[in-house]
Amino acid sequence: MYLTREEEAMCNGEYGETIRKSMDLLVALGDIYGASELVKITSAQVSGVSYKTIGEAGLEYLEDLAKGDIGDANTISTLNPPGTDLDNWKKFGFPEDFSIKQNRIVDAYAKLGVSKTCTCTPYLVGNVPRFGDHIAWAESSAVAYVNSVIGARTNREGGPGALAASIVGKTPMYGFHFEENRKANLVVNVECELSGADFGALGYIIGQKVGGGIPYFILQNTPDNNDLKTLGAALASSGSVALYHMENVTPEYKVAEKENAEDKIAITREDIDETRTNLTTTDVTPDLICLGCPHASLEEIKKVANIVEGKKIQNKLWICTSVAVKASADRMGYTTTIENAGGNIVCDTCMVVAPIEDMGFKVIGVNSAKAANYIPSMCGLEVRYDDVENLIQFQ
Ligand code: F3S
Repeated sequence: MYLTREEEAMCNGEYGETIRKSMDLLVALGDIYGASELVKITSAQVSGVSYKTIGEAGLEYLEDLAKGDIGDANTISTLNPPGTDLDNWKKFGFPEDFSIKQNRIVDAYAKLGVSKTCTCTPYLVGNVPRFGDHIAWAESSAVAYVNSVIGARTNREGGPGALAASIVGKTPMYGFHFEENRKANLVVNVECELSGADFGALGYIIGQKVGGGIPYFILQNTPDNNDLKTLGAALASSGSVALYHMENVTPEYKVAEKENAEDKIAITREDIDETRTNLTTTDVTPDLICLGCPHASLEEIKKVANIVEGKKIQNKLWICTSVAVKASADRMGYTTTIENAGGNIVCDTCMVVAPIEDMGFKVIGVNSAKAANYIPSMCGLEVRYDDVENLIQFQ
């Protein structure tokens, strides 16, 4: 891979050990994927944050790396959800030892220049690339969203690669950074109207079919941004989709060359309903309803507040989101409405990367196909998959 003089100096350790290690990783990744050069990025989003997934070894590695100097890469950089609500872990009963270590991980990232904005929907709270920007994002649902809905350009980075890109301010130029690698290869004609959890079911079906390919959707009705984030999360979890196009909706659909796609598929109401049923693993009523996968927007919180206003919820209810979105919900009175009904807005973390299996829960109700896909394998718990209105039971 071609390196500039400055990049060579970074590789030689002239800018310190942390930058040298980061460059080593970027050059290795560039060699593996056949990149010809590094490209400057405007934004990074770093995964590998939860103590549940990176453990003691990850904590030690990050604290060690954070001892070194970093430059000023001038890149907006945010973190994926950690495994606890960083400020209110005691209130929600997150394990103490876990939460203390989790805070140390986030502190180490902050020393490495990554903001403590912990969310998988950073595009809702200030980490918002522009169309055509080269970026290095790691969270798979966020990658699907920025590539598809915004039209920025990123590969599905691993956590260490995204961190190295954040520190250096550059990433290897290959894959989805090139226009010619962003063409559709499966046309999906959806023959029914979709709402709510249907979008996750659609994403789950197509992710399984297309793997790492690029689907092109033709829908009967126009989704909103919340539907698009739900769809992308599901596509990226049952498959490894990093980019999709949607006719008349996403910015690159006109240049996606759907006429050259190798394959076509029709999706019916029966397909959607069958998948919704299959994502549920039990008939038992959930003891925890967990919404916000990907992290909830203000509109999604408002919707829940409207549903529960003046009532008492039977099950426990968490809505996972970022600190910034919760601050807006606080001001709008949604948080109070939800708390009065017995629910909570939980910040930073989510139902998959938190140690919910150690917190006494057995059955989790979700409206996210990604969460339904991961909770049984990552938490060992049962799931109910449905629309919010059907999940929440009242006293
Ligand atoms: Fe986000 Fe956790 Fe879902 S990281 S996309 S809320 S599994």
